[in-house]
Parts: sequence; structure tokens; C-alpha cells
Amino acid sequence: MAVAIALLLASCGSSGTPTTEVTTPKAPAPIAEVAPAQAPYPAGFITAADITLGPIDQGKVDAGKKIFDEKCHVCHGLGADKVVGPGWKGVTEHRKPEWIMNMILHTDWMLENDTAAQNLVELTKARMVDQQLTKDQARDMLELMRTL
Ligand code: HEC
Repeated sequence: MAVAIALLLASCGSSGTPTTEVTTPKAPAPIAEVAPAQAPYPAGFITAADITLGPIDQGKVDAGKKIFDEKCHVCHGLGADKVVGPGWKGVTEHRKPEWIMNMILHTDWMLENDTAAQNLVELTKARMVDQQLTKDQARDMLELMRTL
């Protein structure tokens, strides 16, 4: 703030040719402050701290399988082959758990802002539709994926 005021004062005091250097101070980028760790996710997104990975929880896996049958199988397979979207086999080896959950819970944001998600769009030539899952349901999906 002090810097902004100094800049404004400097611009008022300057005479002669107006300089274009002084711009309106921008609001600080909130993202970096919210999640300084590794993932530049907005507030409210899943971070590594939100996920505990223990031994496979079969109850969650079963719940995830049900959701898969209802909402995901049209576009995804449990094997490695692409359907409309990528097959899920091995997905937990190349994606962080929080990335997977954010992809499920905040699909549109990820497709617009996350490079890895955008690369997938290039590959699939399709766009995943947000399936409106709850956090618990997204966690069930992660557990299912851990078994593949
Ligand atoms: C309408 C088709 C469609 C449906 C339905 C769908 N997805 Fe997707 N999904 C995609 C596509 C396509 C991609 C690749 C990103 C893109 O191109 O949008 C993707 C990518 C993903 C990824 C990242 C995979 C990777 O290899 O990194 C995850 C995780 C995922 N989807 C989870 C889900 C879950 C969970 C459901 C069901 C609740 C679901 N998707 C339903 C189309 C779909």
C-alpha cells in the first residue's frame, strides 16, 4: 500500500510529458498467498493436506465403483485404454491425489487453468463435463483409482 501511494504521489508531482509507467496498482494475486506450497489452486480446492492415504478402504472403493457405473463409464474405462477420456489404470502413478480430486470437483477450472488438464484436452479432443460430485464422492473415486 505504501508503495502504491508513493507511486501515485510521484505521478501527481511529475511535470512535463506524462509518463505511462504508473499504472493502477493491481490487487495482489490471491492464489499464491492461499496455497504457497506447490499447487497454485484457489482457496477451497483440495490440497495434499486434505488427503490421507492409508491402506485401501474397500468401502470407499465399492462406493467409487457405483459412481463410476453411473456417472463416469460413458467416458472412462478402468483399464488403460482411452474411451472418450483417458483410461484410469495407473492414473495415481502419474497424477497427485489432490490433482485428481480437483479435476473431479473443479473440472472447469482445471480445464481452463491447469496445464496437465489442458494437455489432456489436446489428446482427447474432448472436454470433461463436471459431474457434480461431493468431496466424499471424489475421495471414493480416488480410492477406486488407487486399486487400478
Ligand atoms: C462426457 C465425458 C466424461 C465423463 C462423463 C467423465 N469424464 Fe473424466 N474426463 C473426460 C475427458 C475428455 C478427460 C480428459 C480431459 C479433457 O479432455 O477434458 C477426462 C479426464 C479425467 C481425469 C484425469 C485423467 C488423467 O489421466 O489424468 C479424471 C481423474 C477424471 N476424468 C475423472 C472423472 C470421474 C470421476 C468421472 C465420473 C464421476 C468422470 N471423469 C466423468 C471425460 C469425461
